[in-house]
Amino acid sequence: MEDSNQFYITKLPKRIFIRPFLEKDIPALLHLESLGFPEEERCSEETAIYRIKTCPDICSGLFIRKDETDEEVLVGEIMATKISTEHITLKCMLPNENDEASDVIAIHSVVIHPDYQGQNLARFLMTDYIQKLSQQEVCKKIVIIVHEHLFKFYEKLGFVKLSENEDVNDPKSGFSKNGIWWNMEKELFNF
Ligand SMILES: CC(C)(COP(=O)(O)OP(=O)(O)OC[C@H]1O[C@@H](n2cnc3c(N)ncnc32)[C@H](O)[C@@H]1OP(=O)(O)O)[C@@H](O)C(=O)NCCC(=O)NCCS
Repeated sequence: MEDSNQFYITKLPKRIFIRPFLEKDIPALLHLESLGFPEEERCSEETAIYRIKTCPDICSGLFIRKDETDEEVLVGEIMATKISTEHITLKCMLPNENDEASDVIAIHSVVIHPDYQGQNLARFLMTDYIQKLSQQEVCKKIVIIVHEHLFKFYEKLGFVKLSENEDVNDPKSGFSKNGIWWNMEKELFNF
């Protein structure tokens, strides 16, 4: 059987680490969002600040420490909130939306800086994220919306493809103008 962890760990860049976001990371985080998503899909500054202040434990930053300067450079992100519905809705993407009592985590964005893509960093960041959430018993399941080309990526992480997301795909919203959004979810069995 393939040891998938071994496969990607051998390819990681040096001096890479994962930590929760701090307020000082906001400019870099917004820049990364702008590299990852078209304008209508990005989170606003207000939303980013709200999320890292309200639910820092379920948002995750991937950083590289530069050899020369020791400076931390943001190269990857996962942004999430807890939601009171079974799947992602347009409403839950708004600022000030986090249902702390819920046991469903919605991942709103996964981005790796284009200069660092193709090195298994998204898989590394997501695997770390899923392991932490499972161990800490933070939620029952993780939900996400994806376009078709990323089904395989998420299936390899244990996500299951469900139906099209009717709320998010509503043509009136303009959120689906780049393609249909599908619901995927991963149950966390330690919960
Ligand atoms: C999607 C994204 C996060 C992947 O980051 P990455 O670090 O390059 O991904 P990895 O190197 O960890 O790739 C892991 C696997 O996913 C596949 N994959 C990665 N990006 C892909 C893409 N855009 N389309 C299809 N498959 C992709 C890889 O081929 C690899 O598959 P393999 O295991 O068969 O080799 C990155 O391309 C990105 O930031 N895109 C813009 C934002 C976005 O679309 N985010 C996802 C929705 S929230």
